[in-house]
Amino acid sequence: MCGIVGYVGKKDSLQILFDGLTRLEYRGYDSSGIAFKNGAGIEIYKTSGKLKDLQKILPTPLPAITIGIGHTRWATHGAPSAANAHPHTVKGVSVVHNGIIENYRELRTDLVAAGHVFTSQTDTEVVPQLIARYLDRGLPIDEAIRRAIAHLRGVYALGIIHEGTPDTLFAVRNNSPLVIGIGTDAQYIASDVAALLPYTKNFIHLEDRHMAVLRSNGVDLKHVESLETLQLEGKIVTVDWTPAMAEKQGYDHFMLKEIHEQPQGVMDTLREWTDDTNRLMDEMGFAGTIKDLRRLHITACGSSYHAGLVGRYMIEKFVRIPVTVDIASEFRDMCPIIPKGTVLITITQSGETADTLAAQREAKKKGARTLTICNVVGSTTTREADSVLYTRAGLEIGVVSTKAFTAQLAALSLLGIALGIRKGKLSDLEIQTLKPFLLDLPRLIQQALQTDGKVKEIAKTLVGAKSIMYVGRGINYPIALEGALKMKELAYIHADAYPAGEMKHGPIALIEDGVPVVFLATIDGLHEKILSSIEEVKARGGRIIVVTDSPAAFRDKADDMIVVPSTHPALVPFVTVVPLQLLAYHVAVIKGCNVDQPRNLSKSITIDDKCHNAVCSYSGYCRKSISCAIITPDEKKGIANRVVRLMHVSMWEQFSASSMLESSGRELQKAVHHEQASNGFCTCFESPYE
Ligand code: F6R
Repeated sequence: MCGIVGYVGKKDSLQILFDGLTRLEYRGYDSSGIAFKNGAGIEIYKTSGKLKDLQKILPTPLPAITIGIGHTRWATHGAPSAANAHPHTVKGVSVVHNGIIENYRELRTDLVAAGHVFTSQTDTEVVPQLIARYLDRGLPIDEAIRRAIAHLRGVYALGIIHEGTPDTLFAVRNNSPLVIGIGTDAQYIASDVAALLPYTKNFIHLEDRHMAVLRSNGVDLKHVESLETLQLEGKIVTVDWTPAMAEKQGYDHFMLKEIHEQPQGVMDTLREWTDDTNRLMDEMGFAGTIKDLRRLHITACGSSYHAGLVGRYMIEKFVRIPVTVDIASEFRDMCPIIPKGTVLITITQSGETADTLAAQREAKKKGARTLTICNVVGSTTTREADSVLYTRAGLEIGVVSTKAFTAQLAALSLLGIALGIRKGKLSDLEIQTLKPFLLDLPRLIQQALQTDGKVKEIAKTLVGAKSIMYVGRGINYPIALEGALKMKELAYIHADAYPAGEMKHGPIALIEDGVPVVFLATIDGLHEKILSSIEEVKARGGRIIVVTDSPAAFRDKADDMIVVPSTHPALVPFVTVVPLQLLAYHVAVIKGCNVDQPRNLSKSITIDDKCHNAVCSYSGYCRKSISCAIITPDEKKGIANRVVRLMHVSMWEQFSASSMLESSGRELQKAVHHEQASNGFCTCFESPYE
């Protein structure tokens, strides 16, 4: 994942840009570069490799600068080389870019035909080439940027400086995060706040299609299409994160540090609300509408989805209303039915995950109230949701989620308890019983961290495993899923998770001598059933690793045991997940894997899947398929009519689609779910029963 840093101020050492890039190293990169104005023009330093390689070619001592941009590049278009590294500079216009310009081939062909000479293989270079073309025509810089942007399709966060424009830094975003750091006599841009924490705590999360114009004394926001000036009011958020959060502080990896920060993250998330669940309900907007609340629908990706599955158990227990949990990428494509009285909850560490965001937008469009549980103040889901419940995990730098996950569990347990109280489903006695357990969680997580030594021993024996199974039951099943995900993404070992009762329906066939199976077996009403599952695996030679709060119950059965503290049955995931995080961590470290930046992964997945239309090369919005999020009602109708006419769909489907179009008079929102250009259509008509 590329990183951007930019500075404009009265005067500071170039170190400011270099240090900012250092704080973004965790995102992964294979080349880097810096451009700054030196009075006479723009000076550029670029190289492949790491920042230490860049340091070798930078001037010593580092000069003082008033404006500059820096970049760490993860190669996508063109090899990691000095020529392909950013910033890309054309006729005094220097640009850094995160994302992908999808139509760069067409643009490049046109520009080359018009006599432009390219010096890199990147998609990015079309941006300074286009801006330079409009500057050559005598347009002012902001107009040249506006016109250049109008050509671009794809995902981009851009930082731009121009030799001929005195100390002004421009930033534009579309679907790729970019923050503006607000200082007193210096302003900054960065891919995320981690880069800027030593300089400011005040940030603007730049919105799509907005342009920021930064000068040392302030920031202007404009709409990139109209150049109309936008209000700053309400856009500046203050974070309480500290620069220390962006450092390892003696730990070998950010991930290990963040695993150990979980007691704090859970405490901070709970602290604000445990004594005032009524205020929580008011702030979430549930106060007046609680009677109408009939159903919750949670949607998220990856670990956040697993948190949602745990949340379902908690909320259904405390509130006694149905909770549905969907993977966000599925939700958005499934023509979701959202009956009246549903609140849609998105769970996201970053607040920028494209699938989660799309699901939230889809639900809003269908009239649902939306609530986002998010860790990043001011991020996109928080700006767009009706209400926000912040997790207080602090900055999470390790690519895999750990402390954000347990903070999400804390937020969900709070939400469940608050709703349960408001709905009158939790008795005073139940509340009095639950509360001490809740407040004790940070201490219990701390205790669960003491399993580290034992976990490390077990990890040594798993390094050669081809596959590991995780088995849980009830509220521990999502934790089994989370443990397996951690093992896959960190140690690259195939791992699967099953509910204990499901083993006999198929997965047991995989058990043979020595296959490691991790059982989550805390004592609750279900542990007897786990015991029988353990027996079945043992009988087939599987190696039994038990995570339990009751060692006596499993001593004879387990080959290895990890003992966690006991807690309330609805809160056990807080303690059972910790040794699973540590297990994956240690196996990965022993195998020599890069735990903070696992292969093929990045911290926040802001790039969408390709458009469903196979002939379409757009990754975001194609305007050709009904599932394209920005398509207008008229375009939808046009596509629906076209689909009805096509012979690919069955008579029944043609009939249903045309009768819905003609008779209901309603806009046909989703006539086609997947437009597959190859052959056939999978149709999905909007339910008339919503
Ligand atoms: C796994 C992990 C990912 C994220 C997922 C959602 O360790 O970190 O699975 O949980 O990409 O990200 P957010 O929570 O930012 O929406």
